[in-house]
Amino acid sequence: MQLYIDSANLEQIQKYTDWGFIDGVTTNPSLAAKEGVKPEELSTHLKKITDIVKGLVSIEVYSTTYDEMIAEAMKYSEIASNIVIKLPCTQDGLRACKTLSEKNIKTNVTLVFSPLQAMMAAKMGATLVSPFVGRVEDALFDGLDLIAQIRVIFDNYEFETKILSASFRSTKQISEVAQIGSDIATVSPDLLEKLIKHPLTDIGLEKFLKDAGLK
Ligand code: G3P
Repeated sequence: MQLYIDSANLEQIQKYTDWGFIDGVTTNPSLAAKEGVKPEELSTHLKKITDIVKGLVSIEVYSTTYDEMIAEAMKYSEIASNIVIKLPCTQDGLRACKTLSEKNIKTNVTLVFSPLQAMMAAKMGATLVSPFVGRVEDALFDGLDLIAQIRVIFDNYEFETKILSASFRSTKQISEVAQIGSDIATVSPDLLEKLIKHPLTDIGLEKFLKDAGLK
């Protein structure tokens, strides 16, 4: 499973790129705002991210109507060859997805909460589809079952669209989507660091060094 970092923070993106952990980046308006990036500064900020990361980098449109989404997407698609245009799973967003796919511009349909939304995004030629595991679980539904159902549909019809599971609340959820067969998980920096942690690793290393007389 590929791992993306779900962040617009340049230092964190640089850090985990240096660690060799990440295959791509996802951003959204909330994450950009968290870094103090205004809508008019988004292109410049995302250019800095594409300079750090070779893999796919998702940039989300602020527009909500088809014509405005296309205009915004065309502007962002000039940033770099690894840019992916993130569009909400609405009627306008899906229509824009189809148009951009036909122009060979990569797309990521986001705010996906049902298997049928994912199927429709795939039918529109989306490169990536982003189901939000944590927000489904927050609403007391089964976020992992959502990923499993999308996996079945995509496999049934051999859709090339990749499942990019998002919005995690725990490392356990990340482990579960890896077992289900999610193609990618996008993970916040705090959870990314926890992926390699286990207390028995620390205890075991301590014992090895002690037994060797090095501690
Ligand atoms: O990539 C989507 C993600 O940023 C949403 O996460 O934690 O706001 O549900 P969250």
